[in-house]
Amino acid sequence: MNILDERFAEFQKLPTEEKLKCFEKNGRLFDMIISQQLNRKIIDNIYEITNHLRHISDSKAGSLFIQNILCHKRAMLYFTQPSSRTFLSFDSACHILGMKTSEIRDVSVSSEVKGESYDDSLRTFSSYTDLIIMRHKGQDTAERSAWLLNTHTNRPVPIINGGSGSDQHPTQAILDVYTLQRSFANQGGLDGKTILMCGDLKRGRTVRSLSYLMKNFEDIEIIFASPKPFQMKEDVRSFLERYKIPYHVETEALENVLSKADAIYMTRIQDEHDISAGDSSRVDTSRFKLRPSDMSKVRANAVIMHPFPRRDEIDVAIDSDPRAMYWRQERNGMWTRAALIAYIFNVHEEILNY
Ligand code: CP
Repeated sequence: MNILDERFAEFQKLPTEEKLKCFEKNGRLFDMIISQQLNRKIIDNIYEITNHLRHISDSKAGSLFIQNILCHKRAMLYFTQPSSRTFLSFDSACHILGMKTSEIRDVSVSSEVKGESYDDSLRTFSSYTDLIIMRHKGQDTAERSAWLLNTHTNRPVPIINGGSGSDQHPTQAILDVYTLQRSFANQGGLDGKTILMCGDLKRGRTVRSLSYLMKNFEDIEIIFASPKPFQMKEDVRSFLERYKIPYHVETEALENVLSKADAIYMTRIQDEHDISAGDSSRVDTSRFKLRPSDMSKVRANAVIMHPFPRRDEIDVAIDSDPRAMYWRQERNGMWTRAALIAYIFNVHEEILNY
């Protein structure tokens, strides 16, 4: 353990509310590390920027205007875990705003392979870029990165967490809630809705971040449906209890609760986190999949979501059902991520005033 490890261990002992101040600058969101950082005002602001970006980008003149907004900034995508959507949507989001991007997608091509510490590698990345977007298998790596740059260097560039181990994926939650708000636009928005989350809730970082984000909405109910070994962990459950968000647990079969949900959020089994190869395959997940025969139990105005990638949790025959929202959800990621970057760089007024 070096001195930075010791200091970071001390930092981690702070209450969450106090730790989060480290990720702000001048009272504004600076790093995007965990969903608990977001309040309703920030969320609504990001969605307003998102809607403006989409609208302005419809025209060539509008696209060129937006490409001028951050054309003097560079972003680095440090993605050492596999990703299609998060990587490509962030890369595209940067380009929408005119940012130049560089990337490392495999530690074997970084000098970490020559024995450089992660902290030194991170400081090196920050020397060449104005924003680091990262996905890492380490649960605390994004948090440590932001803490290190903000407290121990004179080049604190923002860090955006694109997925930290099995812990959190806050920008996925931002795009998920954007999709839900749009889907329920004619039904009063997300407030008052019942969200059913299904699959590997124990190790699924998307459902964890989405659950944390629910503190910002009124009269939400959550149903957690999973086989017993993949139940939602205690930390998220206690958080929901603290914020008085009712949740119900279903461990027998998805079909038992389908009719109760306004939104059905399916996820895959996260077997990359198995301790021994094949652990997950010993769990019977067959009753936690959505099949065409189940669709008669799904409410007429419900939405079906999935962060993707999917395996067989949602039968492809359901893709053409008007309630299937997952392909739109995926595309919403690019726009909400562009809006988040504009918000972090505090250039969103230019977009809103266009
Ligand atoms: N939803 C999501 O994080 O997808 P990728 O793993 O493809 O980035």
